[in-house]
Amino acid sequence: MKGNYDHFMQKEIHEQPESLTTTMRGRLISGDSSKAKGVLLGGLKDHLKTIRRSRRIVFIGCGTSYNAALAARPFMEELSGVPVTMEIASDLLDREGPIYREDTVVFVSQSGETADTLQALNAIARETDCGVHINAGCEIGVASTKAYTSQIVVMTMVALALGGDTISSQARREATLDGLLDLPNKVREVLKLDDELKSLAKLLMCEQSLLVFGRGCNYATALEGALKVKEVALMHSEGILAGEMKHGPLALVDETLPIIVIATRDACFRKQQSVIQQLHARKGRLIVICSKGDASLVCAGGSCRVIEVPQVVDCLQPVINIVPLQLLAYHLTVLRGFNVDQPRNLAKSVTTQ
Ligand code: F6R
Repeated sequence: MKGNYDHFMQKEIHEQPESLTTTMRGRLISGDSSKAKGVLLGGLKDHLKTIRRSRRIVFIGCGTSYNAALAARPFMEELSGVPVTMEIASDLLDREGPIYREDTVVFVSQSGETADTLQALNAIARETDCGVHINAGCEIGVASTKAYTSQIVVMTMVALALGGDTISSQARREATLDGLLDLPNKVREVLKLDDELKSLAKLLMCEQSLLVFGRGCNYATALEGALKVKEVALMHSEGILAGEMKHGPLALVDETLPIIVIATRDACFRKQQSVIQQLHARKGRLIVICSKGDASLVCAGGSCRVIEVPQVVDCLQPVINIVPLQLLAYHLTVLRGFNVDQPRNLAKSVTTQ
């Protein structure tokens, strides 16, 4: 049921405050006052010790699920202290990549039906030892939106469960738990940018191509934002790791090609400011996603369009930052007259290889 919405994708983007709440329900352990003091993931609790002892954690997924894992990787490494490597399921299968007895392998899938991911699972073990449901509710639109944000939240909770409660990580854990509790409200806030994104879509609807630059946790946002634009709006779009800019992509920059730069506050902020300056110097046509109040900082000395989003703890910022890009992809699709919920040539779950 679409309710008051025109399309399922639109409904699913707008119901993220509720889907995130459902994803966290019963899993945050309450402490004093209204604060949470830890996470409890029933499916994982008997396996945490083994996972902590792994030599590495390997995330395996396809498409949006791969991107969600990529967004969660830095925090997973930070809290677990275990190196995390990333595998696109089909590529792991193609090259028969090695997986060792001491590895923990995490299969990330919204449908649980993706052929490549399942085949990778079969190649490694008969079945999984444990798991965590994302509980995001039914997603009808072929383009994944609310499942993506719920997957990031689940993997953040897994990282919290894996991290010991050491004194040194206490402040970090508390900030993340507070951030999780407040996340649905912050997503509600960012959804208010809908009209702004619609007007940006009007400006971009006739473009051939769109680049999205991100780094750190938000490299995943760049990949996922570009994936949404290409799969539903049928516009060429590429997510680029900003640190790679000078190794090729800079050659594309001129005054016509629209470029979205993600420059919200985190450890990469200064580097992203410098990327923006370098793009300005090449007369790049910039749209910058930044934290509230940072417009003049990110666009100092140049002209660009700015989308200001609420700032949250860095590991959850990808959940906030993807929302404007989901809205942009949605409005671009409607304006360009394409099928929002059933994009050309795509199926909701890819059950064949
Ligand atoms: C894109 C999208 C796909 C899926 C991918 C994996 O919006 O939905 O990229 O993420 O086909 O699907 P699951 O998560 O079901 O394994």
